[in-house]
Amino acid sequence: MIGNILLTLPVIALTAHSCRAAPTEGKGWHFVQNGTTGIVALESIIVSDTLAIFFDRATNDPLEIDGHPAWGALYNLETNTASPLNVTTDAFCGSGSFLSNGTMVSVGGHNPVIPEAEDGRNGIRVWEPCDDPNGEGCVLFEDPEKLHMAETRWYATSLRIFDGSVMIIGGVHQVTPFFNDDPVNNVEFFPPKDGGIPRPLDLLERSLPANLFPRSFALPDGKIFMAAGNQTIIYDVEKNTETRLPDIPNGVRITNPYDGTATLLPLHPPEYIPEILVCGGTNTSDQLPMEELSSQTPASDQCSRMTLTPEGIERGWEIERLLEPRMMPEMILLPNGEIVIINGAQSGYAAIGTVKDTIGNNSNADHPAFTPSIYTPDAPLGQRISNAGMPTTDIARIYHSTVTLTQKGNLLIAGSNPNGRVVNGTQFHSEFRVEYLNPPYMTVERPQLSNVPKQMAFNSEFSVDVSIPSRLTQGDLKVALMDLGFSSHAFHSSSRLVFMDAQLSGDGKTLSIKSPPNNRVYPPGPAYIFLTVGDVSSPGVRVMVGSGATPPVEDQGVPI
Ligand SMILES: *[C@@H]1O[C@H](CO)[C@@H](O)[C@H](O)[C@H]1NC(C)=O
Ligand SMILES: *[C@@H]1O[C@H](CO)[C@@H](O)[C@H](O)[C@H]1NC(C)=O
Ligand SMILES: *[C@@H]1O[C@H](CO)[C@@H](O)[C@H](O)[C@H]1NC(C)=O
Ligand SMILES: *[C@@H]1O[C@H](CO)[C@@H](O)[C@H](O)[C@H]1NC(C)=O
Ligand SMILES: *[C@@H]1O[C@H](CO)[C@@H](O)[C@H](O)[C@H]1NC(C)=O
Ligand SMILES: *[C@@H]1O[C@H](CO)[C@@H](O)[C@H](O)[C@H]1NC(C)=O
Ligand SMILES: *[C@@H]1O[C@H](CO)[C@@H](O)[C@H](O)[C@H]1NC(C)=O
Repeated sequence: MIGNILLTLPVIALTAHSCRAAPTEGKGWHFVQNGTTGIVALESIIVSDTLAIFFDRATNDPLEIDGHPAWGALYNLETNTASPLNVTTDAFCGSGSFLSNGTMVSVGGHNPVIPEAEDGRNGIRVWEPCDDPNGEGCVLFEDPEKLHMAETRWYATSLRIFDGSVMIIGGVHQVTPFFNDDPVNNVEFFPPKDGGIPRPLDLLERSLPANLFPRSFALPDGKIFMAAGNQTIIYDVEKNTETRLPDIPNGVRITNPYDGTATLLPLHPPEYIPEILVCGGTNTSDQLPMEELSSQTPASDQCSRMTLTPEGIERGWEIERLLEPRMMPEMILLPNGEIVIINGAQSGYAAIGTVKDTIGNNSNADHPAFTPSIYTPDAPLGQRISNAGMPTTDIARIYHSTVTLTQKGNLLIAGSNPNGRVVNGTQFHSEFRVEYLNPPYMTVERPQLSNVPKQMAFNSEFSVDVSIPSRLTQGDLKVALMDLGFSSHAFHSSSRLVFMDAQLSGDGKTLSIKSPPNNRVYPPGPAYIFLTVGDVSSPGVRVMVGSGATPPVEDQGVPI
């Protein structure tokens, strides 16, 4: 045990080549279009280095399986091709997460509109770890009779917690046109706790009716932060208690159908102080009938940030402004600790056509935001958000679009369909084109990690081999442990970045890394390790963090 000796990140030893100026060739962010998704990618999760899973509503997607439209797809990130996934129940507007044993579960969904799909409202879909790069032989397991949730849930959040289980939060029992008029005011777990009896949660009742997909994060002490409507709490899973936190300021609401987004900022050793950032949404009252709402009402440009310590909560939310208002943005953590703010519309609302002046076939939102921004958490207030050097796309990514970081370190952007089914040839048609947002490091020589152990215990030290391009050897070094999260409805649940202390050997070829202290700082389960040197990040290497056992798992490691 080396305790807390390695508190600061060392500057890399100089080598013979270190005096060379860093070249500027190939610099810059780029949107690159490649491939099509076959189904609308309204949920997405990276399940291996080479594969992403997408889910859509069971309707009329062009990709077919067994002679009918598919509503699940495997997307191969090497070949940029989609193949159908055999899904039994309708996963429309569900969510998902990995468990501590590396299995991915997809939960919730819809009562289908086509006969080939079964009712997915209490669905649980199991994707076991898949080693084949093309997904050959890997299946999405379902047994709707025997394996299902206690409640029917559409629009529920899933989040991996400290014992490696998934907590499933809120939702609506079945179809409602816009607001949550048939709420599931409780949480349940998979695998089940409390004999499978859901636990009532006051927050869900208090925050009606715009409270779908509560933005929820596992905090480094194991408690859960949640935002629903304009309200926020900390929920203690072990004591089953809620502690209220200050409301998001200025009447801004951030949950569906008033989708803003939220993220837990990167956690740093040795204290792992949690900070929450919420951006976008709307300050429209949730008491207005949907027929009075307009697709032209500007969204909110407000970002609110709070440190979740007693002093931070006392200080309350700190406000900053996006460069444009955004309904349905997403925030994606990058390996260097910066955050990409991307997607969404500048006016209107989420959900499928219900407002008085829908656009195209059926969009409640208008004026897509085409240029991403970067949020730099460590910069001073007022200087954190910038789009300098960011490219602009012409593909709208509004309702039912997704974005996720990949193992390669770029962003996979897919989906968008504010329509009830696949619709072509109109404004805001169903979108099948894949676009990557490539950070500048995708076009330069990058650091590489190798000989990374497949499994990593908490509070332990391990060594990996590194190769660092000579022009970078004077750069600061950061090692990030990341959960790439599950993207659904402008929210990336379970996404997380924990920085790890690291020490480079004198010859610059070996990195000693100290893993997170315990299973609360990083909920046990799969992760990617990325090394950033200067401003260039390596591709990620997948590891299993913790024992890899089936949940619920015991506490591991040492307290902070
Ligand atoms: C919509 O467009 C996609 C992609 O261009 C195509 O594959 C599909 O068949 C079209 N669907 C309909 C319903 O027209
Ligand atoms: C698209 O992806 C294919 C398969 O990976 C690759 O061969 C091709 O170069 C890519 N095209 C672009 C424009 O990046
Ligand atoms: C999909 O699953 C169904 C039911 O389990 C099965 O009958 C069918 O053969 C499967 N199709 C494929 C292509 O695997
Ligand atoms: C949050 O919304 C409620 C109404 O639902 C309102 O009474 C309260 O003032 C709002 N809070 C803030 C800080 O705007
Ligand atoms: C609501 O947000 C809009 C758009 O950002 C802004 O112009 C307006 O002043 C806000 N209203 C209130 C009451 O805060
Ligand atoms: C949207 O497209 C569908 C299918 O083409 C059609 O049935 C529906 O009437 C359209 N809705 C609107 C609002 O245009
Ligand atoms: C992980 O745990 C889940 C829930 O118990 C189980 O369904 C799944 O088969 C397990 N996966 C592995 C790889 O053990």
